[in-house]
Parts: sequence; C-alpha cells; structure tokens
Amino acid sequence: MKGVVFTEFLDMVEQRFSADLVDDIIVDAALPHGGAFTAVGTYPFNEMVALVTALSRRSGMAPEVLIHAFGQYLFGRFYVLYPHFITASPDTMHLVAHIEKVIHLEVRKLYPDAELPAFMVESQTATRLCVVYQSPRCLWQLAVGLIDGALAHYGESGQVTVRQELLHSDGSRVRFILERQ
Ligand code: HEM
Repeated sequence: MKGVVFTEFLDMVEQRFSADLVDDIIVDAALPHGGAFTAVGTYPFNEMVALVTALSRRSGMAPEVLIHAFGQYLFGRFYVLYPHFITASPDTMHLVAHIEKVIHLEVRKLYPDAELPAFMVESQTATRLCVVYQSPRCLWQLAVGLIDGALAHYGESGQVTVRQELLHSDGSRVRFILERQ
C-alpha cells in the first residue's frame, strides 16, 4: 500500500482525535519502522490493518466506521494533492464511472507499484450507476467513503447502496449502486 495512504490516515487520526493517539496506535501496531512512513514509499497492507485495529480498540469505534470516515477524509485530500484527476469529472457519477479506466490508470503511471482495486461498470443511466468493486484488500467501505466524499465535494445529493447479496462474503467483491436524487 502506498505511503500516501498511511500518511493521510495518520493525519486524519491527529485531526479527528489527537497527536497522542497517533503515537499510541503506532506503538500498539508494533510497526518495524516505528511509523516513519514516507508518502512515496510502499508498505505492507497488514500495517494498515494493524493501525485500523489499534484505532478501533482505543476509540471503541468499529473498523468499518473508521474506514468509511477515512474514505470521506481521503477524497478531500486527493482533491488537494491531485486536483486534475477530480476536476476532469463534472460530477460524482462521471468520476466513479471513470475510476478504473482513467483515474486509477493515471495513478498507476505515477506509482507503478500501487495496489489498486478493480471497478467494473455494470450498467449506467442518467441517475443510476451500478459498479462492482473487486480487491483482495476488501476495502469496500473505503470505496463507499470515497464516493460519499465525492458527493460532498460536488455538493450533490445522492446515495450509495451496497447490495444485500455481497458477491463474496469476505468483501473482496461487492456491488454498489450510486443513485442521484
Ligand atoms: C470516488 C473515487 C475513488 C474511489 C471509489 C477509489 C477507490 C479506491 C480504493 C477502495 C482503494 C484501496 C485499494 C483497494 O481497495 O484495493 C484505492 C486506492 C488508491 N487510490 Fe483510489 N479511488 C477513488 C479515487 C481516487 C483518486 C481521485 C485518486 C487520485 C489520485 C486515487 C488514488 C488512489 C491511490 C494513490 C491509492 C493507493 C494505492 C496503493 O495503496 O498502492 N483514487 N482507491
């Protein structure tokens, strides 16, 4: 996982909780490098799992709630760090429909070792987009948080629903419906 995801995660914890809690979860997670992440580095995904687990234990909030909140926060940060990826889309539906073939494709050019999910568009109308998320990292709550962050960014009222029938129960393959109101 790219270092930028770790540095943004720790910044969110500092802003929403405290700098002390950042230190605490780094100790709890027993990271080999003591939590010294660089944005351009690449780190094992299990280090993110350890940090989220530590934050969940210390805050009493469920990991999925924390991951969703991180997605909302991260979208705002992506807009600051990589504005052109976002300004190229006029609205959330266009953006989400272009994650796989445009946005993450460009991300891969910047970071050839990025571990990115697949987003397959199944169907699209003017008001409804159906996409399937697939990734061995099972971060679909992060995806929902990012999409909610995009809706807030564009000032749109819309809703993401995760279909009842998770295609894979571990969350490695999930179908979303984005509806614009
Ligand atoms: C609503 C739009 C977006 C969604 C739903 C989305 C979804 C995701 C998810 C779920 C991941 C975690 C990896 C995984 O699940 O396997 C991820 C990783 C990532 N995405 Fe996106 N993304 C979006 C937009 C963007 C934008 C605008 C950028 C800007 C550059 C971006 C850059 C990245 C980067 C750098 C990673 C980390 C890759 C790694 O850890 O190696 N994404 N994305």
